[in-house]
Amino acid sequence: MGSSLSQHEKKRRKSLLNQNRKQQEETVSSSSTLTRSPLASSDSVVVDGRTYHGEASSVYWLPNDDEELDRLVGQHFAMKTLFGGNIPKEVHKHVDMEKGIKILDLGCGPRTWIMDMATEYPNSEFTGIDMSDVFPNNIRPANVTFQIANVLEPLPFEDDTFDFVNFSLFILALKKDQWIPVMKEVKRILKPGGLYHSREASMLLKGNSFVQWAGQVFTERLIEREQEPCIIDKVKELMKVAGFDVIYYKKLPTYPGRSDRLNREFLWDVKHVFKNCQPFLKEHVKVKDEEYDDFLDRFVQECQKKPELEWDFASTLGRKPVQSI
Ligand SMILES: C[S@@+](CC[C@H](N)C(=O)[O-])C[C@H]1O[C@@H](n2cnc3c(N)ncnc32)[C@H](O)[C@@H]1O
Repeated sequence: MGSSLSQHEKKRRKSLLNQNRKQQEETVSSSSTLTRSPLASSDSVVVDGRTYHGEASSVYWLPNDDEELDRLVGQHFAMKTLFGGNIPKEVHKHVDMEKGIKILDLGCGPRTWIMDMATEYPNSEFTGIDMSDVFPNNIRPANVTFQIANVLEPLPFEDDTFDFVNFSLFILALKKDQWIPVMKEVKRILKPGGLYHSREASMLLKGNSFVQWAGQVFTERLIEREQEPCIIDKVKELMKVAGFDVIYYKKLPTYPGRSDRLNREFLWDVKHVFKNCQPFLKEHVKVKDEEYDDFLDRFVQECQKKPELEWDFASTLGRKPVQSI
């Protein structure tokens, strides 16, 4: 793909990439160091020892290193347990995954959802895309392929290609005004009657004053980046505007302060969200690097106190109308 880019396009991308690096440098505190990683792919950036994407058009603010990929794997299994599966049962009324359909996972991250699904539905054909090269070298179920692509650009697929598109946890990856254009692209590549599955998270809700303050600091960083903190409450409306029929919506609470196994997983997850966002949060929680682990320990303790912290997740299914007007 790279060799077919025009000189003009190459120059444009290089300039956008430089702008993004500058923005990353300015966003993190002045004590942060920004270097290029000799081990990472050519368009990754390293901030405070963590590796991030270098995609100029994207505001996504989590790293793409092993520690973050481990968090996403843990989160995948916690969400699977919370929702009782990788997809709502409603899906099977509309598409036949057992018989074999074409499925796309947009922003597949550490590939857990797609590998899990590809093993469960061996007759279906799966494609995973991500802007970061987080793909395996060779181990993969035979019915999966991966591609590096940016969802903010036209997707590299023909109209009406897929029966099912999974597009989950983009709350930290899209600006408010990017949701509808991406959803319209999803609609374009879905076959008539095809399904769009979304799972998104809320901000931290309730909790004691310390937890509310930490949650507010996090929310402010999203707003600074022109992102949508309440996406789980808006996704249905956005899907409708993009031309989908919304056929299913389920919002479930988690209580990370509780001691049962599943809620402990969500506590581990939220702690690691705060850990992996350290370069962007530390100066706002007024904690130096060497004190950040103590801040995280306190955060975990405070999450376990009353009033109880709530953290919600929502699963939504949109259907492309069979006859588009
Ligand atoms: C929070 S993760 C979610 C991963 C996976 N969907 C899951 O549910 O575990 C977001 C993923 O989307 C990818 N991503 C973010 N912005 C993207 C973009 N503009 N184009 C393609 N991938 C993107 C990131 O690299 C990351 O792997």
